Amino acid sequence: MIIVLNNKSNLTREEFIEYQSELSKIKSKHNIVLCPSIIHIANFYLENIHLGSQNVSKDKNGSHTGEVSSLQLKSFDVEYCLVGHSERREEFNETNLVISKKIKGLLEEKVIPILCIGEYTKEDLDTTVKVLKKQISTTLKELTEEEKKKVIIAYEPRWAIGKGKTSQIKEIDHTLKSIKEILPNNLLLYGGGITEYNIKDLKKSSFLDGYLLGGLSLDINKFKKFLQELEK
Ligand code: PGA
Repeated sequence: MIIVLNNKSNLTREEFIEYQSELSKIKSKHNIVLCPSIIHIANFYLENIHLGSQNVSKDKNGSHTGEVSSLQLKSFDVEYCLVGHSERREEFNETNLVISKKIKGLLEEKVIPILCIGEYTKEDLDTTVKVLKKQISTTLKELTEEEKKKVIIAYEPRWAIGKGKTSQIKEIDHTLKSIKEILPNNLLLYGGGITEYNIKDLKKSSFLDGYLLGGLSLDINKFKKFLQELEK
């Protein structure tokens, strides 16, 4: 399983030092990927955890003030990068076209894109699947079949993010199954509202290759409980 920790814009310099020291003690058979705030990437030193970025520029190196390119990420040994997170789509007006450019740029540098998709409001299942299919087809259409397979898909219903609760596993599975039908070879994660408690149900899904954790990533004790529950 791949477990992605999305710290978002959290942790000061001192807090991150403490946080890394706690994370360094974690032993797990799963692949844990930490996506810290970009300001901490240069200080990442963990050997038991992979490094991811929360964002990347859609452009290559050059005159793009405030941006960080995929080549720069690669030079800091970043292995994964989130793209299309709903907070970026909403707060920064990131379109599917921009997301598709980011994915292309990352693949050129051999950084694995983790493409976040998800419906904004709680919809009936058919509408949800339609929304997701559109997000997938528009963001991946420029890729070859080989490139497509390298993209990890993270299904995150927008309305569940930060709420500490998810839909019924039956509903989630219905949606995941539809994603697997279009992208049978891609790794598939679920995120949005995951807690150390609801993982008990989520882990029953037969479609999942891992999880994307936001709030839970910031509380090491809860994260440890999550891992214990997952490994039971
Ligand atoms: P959450 O966030 O776990 O706090 O719901 C997940 C995410 O935004 O990736």
